[in-house]
Amino acid sequence: MSNRKPRVFATRHFPPDVESRLTANFDAVLNPEDRPFDGPALAKATEGCDAILCAAGDALNAATIGVLPSSIRMIATFSVGYEHVDVGAAAARNILVSNTPDVLTDATADITMLCLLGAARRAHEGTTMLRTHSWVGWSPTQLMGVHVTGKRLGILGMGRIGQAVADRARAFRMTIHYNNRSRLPPDLEKGAIFHADADEMLAHCDFLSINAPLTPATRKWVNAERIARLPRGAVVVNTARGGVVDDEALIAALKTGHLAAAGLDVFDGEPRIHQGYYTLENAFLLPHMGSATVETRNAMGFKALDNLEAYLLRGQTPPDLVRV
Ligand code: DGY
Repeated sequence: MSNRKPRVFATRHFPPDVESRLTANFDAVLNPEDRPFDGPALAKATEGCDAILCAAGDALNAATIGVLPSSIRMIATFSVGYEHVDVGAAAARNILVSNTPDVLTDATADITMLCLLGAARRAHEGTTMLRTHSWVGWSPTQLMGVHVTGKRLGILGMGRIGQAVADRARAFRMTIHYNNRSRLPPDLEKGAIFHADADEMLAHCDFLSINAPLTPATRKWVNAERIARLPRGAVVVNTARGGVVDDEALIAALKTGHLAAAGLDVFDGEPRIHQGYYTLENAFLLPHMGSATVETRNAMGFKALDNLEAYLLRGQTPPDLVRV
């Protein structure tokens, strides 16, 4: 058996502690530029590599996977979402795929509450007023937003992150409604109201939080018809994937006032987001930073490395293997 360390190509700049462990345990090839690339350029860069450490934003689609060198045995994504990796195409080439579940649950649930509160309480308008020196002082009618405490929150997708959002929302005495593939057991449901039919849930949502992955079934799920089912003045929050929302429909509803506000951390086609969002005062926008805490990004990196080490160093099944 060769003593050669497996060669891993890292597509992005990862946190320093993660890169240190990567370089200690592997023959690491670090992308000098912190930007995604794909297709023939990625194939060339990964020549002679055993694995790729990639991230959300890298398009490991069927075309890219199809041209990867035959030496590639594994793709570890530094993310819980893996819609950017064509798992079927990888499986067809015997390339394993792993992701990083669990470790970003709290950070993403925290930012969901930030989006919910920021949208409801007009945080964007408030900070803009202050920073543009347009604040002329307190007024009884200034920046009146949507009350949060005691309202109804509908959660689309009650997985780990959805449940963590529900836990936080309970502290705001919100009534939790949810839709999920299956009903949760009572100890996880904690009194939340299950709706087997997600469309039916919408009429019960003062706030709608998207916590479902992007799949063919959820693509553009939040469309004009479904937005119309939400009560007038509702707030839509998305910290999952931008593709779950039909941007044209959401922007139209924010303009007409059917929706009071939206809090968005994720967008279709990031970073080139729909231009319509930029001028909407009632859209509280963040640049996909749900997992961006030092602790979480380190934990994501270490989890990705756990998976690479299991397979490439010990010949074990990666603990977070994504199954086709
Ligand atoms: C994920 O892990 O899927 C996040 O969206 C990236 O932070």
